[in-house]
Formats: sequence, structure tokens, C-alpha cells
Amino acid sequence: MSPRRPPRILGLGGSMRPDSTSQLLLRRAVAVLEGDGCRTALLDLRELDLPFCNGDKKEPWPSRPDVKLLREEVRAADGVILAGPEYHGTIGGALKNALDLLDFEHVEGKVFGAICALGGRSNSNALNHLRLVVRWYRAWMVPEQVAVPQARTALADGEPTDPELGARVDELARSVARAAALLRADRG
Ligand SMILES: Cc1cc2nc3c(=O)[nH]c(=O)nc-3n(C[C@H](O)[C@H](O)[C@H](O)COP(=O)(O)O)c2cc1C
Repeated sequence: MSPRRPPRILGLGGSMRPDSTSQLLLRRAVAVLEGDGCRTALLDLRELDLPFCNGDKKEPWPSRPDVKLLREEVRAADGVILAGPEYHGTIGGALKNALDLLDFEHVEGKVFGAICALGGRSNSNALNHLRLVVRWYRAWMVPEQVAVPQARTALADGEPTDPELGARVDELARSVARAAALLRADRG
């Protein structure tokens, strides 16, 4: 890690499911980075009160303060780890809606990584669709990514049953932190 101030990494968890696998793996990723000395924050969409995007990206939503919180946390981050479910072959709606409530001023130039949980077999549909969104925001997605097939049995007592899954989550988290530190240093 650079001798400069450590990067600030936000975990943004987009599953609304009570026992969400992607939310638990996101917590692991954030804990790993905290242990590495990064500054971290975690937003769990189950705990936020967000409206549906109404088509106005500048809308301040004064009666929904969590919109401001979301925007400020993303703005303050050097890197963001997105986590969520694959629904019907793509990104779950709650996470996409949270991304739609943001604008370039919060996202552009940041580093992103993603974890997607699937009920079925492994595929990269939602991960690839998140890459499109991140690219559209003129931000950077690290090459590492984590798809979690058969997500409901991937964890036992909150821990991955396959140690390789845990290692891949840790690797993804560290890749986001490393790239975020480099890009921030480059921005000066
Ligand atoms: C509306 C809906 C659509 C889903 N679509 C898919 C799908 O296209 N492919 C798949 O493998 N699993 C699908 N699933 C299963 C979820 O991806 C699975 O439950 C996963 O664990 C959700 O992630 P989470 O544990 O983080 O909530 C779907 C589940 C729901 C509720």
C-alpha cells in the first residue's frame, strides 16, 4: 500500500434479501480491506430508504436523506465494491436504481469491483452488465470479479464453504484498493 493516505473504499450491497449471500461476502471484502489499513464504509441497501429514480439525476430528494448519504459516500470513496444478486439474467433492480440515483460528479474516475450471487449455475451476465454501467459513468472496473453460483449453499455460518471463494473475494477487494490508490495518486 502506498505511504500516502490509504484509499477509502465503499462497499455497496444491493441485495434486499434477509440472508443475502452477496451482502455477507461484501462484508468480508470490506473487513479484509479494513485489516489492510484502508479507510472503509459500507452501505447496505436493506437499511436505506431510497426512492425510485424519477429521471432527474439532480433531484435532491429533501424528504429522503438516504439519497444524499448514498451520493456523499460514493463521492467520498476512491473505490467502490458493488455486490448484488443476478435477477432474470441481469443486475437486481435495487442496485441498478441506486446507481441511477448517482451522477458523474459522484462516480467518474473511481475504481469499481463487483460480486454477484446467483441461484443457479455460474455466469457473468450481471457482472458484465455492471461493467457496462461503470464504463458508462467513465469509471474503471478491475479485471477481477466474483460470481457466486448456487448462492444459497455457498456459505455456512457466514463463511464460504469453498475456501477458493473466500480467496477470490479477498483478491477482488485488494485489487480495487490497489487500483484506487494508484488512480488517486495519479489524480494528485
Ligand atoms: C426475481 C428473481 C430473479 C432471479 N433470477 C435469477 C437468474 O436469472 N439466474 C440465477 O441464477 N438466479 C436467479 N435468482 C436467484 C438469485 O440470484 C439468488 O437467490 C441469489 O442468492 C440472490 O443473491 P443474494 O443471496 O445476495 O440475495 C433470482 C431470484 C429472484 C428473486
